[in-house]
Amino acid sequence: MISLPDFPWDRLTVYKERAGAHPDGIVDLSVGTPVDPVPLVAQKALAEAADSPGYPLTYGTPRLREAAAGWLARRHGVHVDAADILPTIGTKELVAWLPTLLGVRPGERVLFPELAYPTYDVGARLAGATPYATDGLLAVGPERVPLVWVNSPSNPTGRVLPAEHLRKVVSWARERGAVVASDECYLELGWEERPVSVLHPDVCGGSHEGLLALHSMSKRSNLAGYRAGFVAGDPALVQRLLEVRKHAGMMMPAPVQAAMAAVLDDDAHADEQRERYARRRAVLRPALESAGWRVEHSTAGLYLWATNGAGCWEQVEALAARGILVAPGDFYGEAGARHVRIAVTATDERVNAAVLRLQ
Ligand SMILES: Cc1ncc(COP(=O)(O)O)c(C=O)c1O
Repeated sequence: MISLPDFPWDRLTVYKERAGAHPDGIVDLSVGTPVDPVPLVAQKALAEAADSPGYPLTYGTPRLREAAAGWLARRHGVHVDAADILPTIGTKELVAWLPTLLGVRPGERVLFPELAYPTYDVGARLAGATPYATDGLLAVGPERVPLVWVNSPSNPTGRVLPAEHLRKVVSWARERGAVVASDECYLELGWEERPVSVLHPDVCGGSHEGLLALHSMSKRSNLAGYRAGFVAGDPALVQRLLEVRKHAGMMMPAPVQAAMAAVLDDDAHADEQRERYARRRAVLRPALESAGWRVEHSTAGLYLWATNGAGCWEQVEALAARGILVAPGDFYGEAGARHVRIAVTATDERVNAAVLRLQ
């Protein structure tokens, strides 16, 4: 049996109950799930494609792949051939299965950041490989490494890796034949800094060899419930993933493909959603600071990475006593033991309630 970590969210249950006992109800800032409406452009495209009796293409419709390539070029200065794009059923499944799909072998180490989305670790284990959380590639030594994850903007810290940093990771990986998988699901949510894709010429020098970028519609377009994402990059790697995914039946439903193409072609709804998050962040951050928390990194993405110096569970408890639920930093790695992660994904009404409770 593969040993998987305990699902950590169960440990928050008692704090959820505690926060829920507040007379004005809980303000749940513990998860990054969208709460605003699915954009009409997506709902309409989904409905219009509802009569889809046949099997969808694992590769996605040409329309979907062209929309993804168009969005990368228009919004992120990244030029990818539509042939080098592959839809995924959200991105979590690909994070969890990428080491397996790429043929990472037992005993090999899969690298990911010290503070990270827990699924990188899970994916390494599912492949029988060894998860290895590190921020220092130099410490890895000369062994063969099949796969390195980067995640900028980061969940949980909201830290942005500048092009220069990403360039170093890419050249380190290329020297050893490692694949760099860049989880870019928060790429459009830069605040004080503008995140850059690993596929941008400033990072990769114009060649996508050995590189994969993962993109999700969950946050940009409130499509978490539709399960819509894609991977783009190295043509040979994308074709390899396509081949295995075809055999394994990992295909995105046709109506979701239609909805995803529609949101990729439309920037207005994404700009509107960005504004909502910007407003919530602008009130929550100073409220936390005046209540004694220091916010670190957090220049992009959907989270405030904060500390008041106490242990993370003590901070969770202090906030739950005010009816606010947040995630303890140690969910994301030992280095998070004195931080909490506070999501800006609650309604304006709930965020304003949190601000009042922090006063
Ligand atoms: C860093 C990171 N990667 C991937 C995902 C998965 O997103 P989805 O499966 O909705 O595309 C999330 C979700 O919160 C995330 O934070």
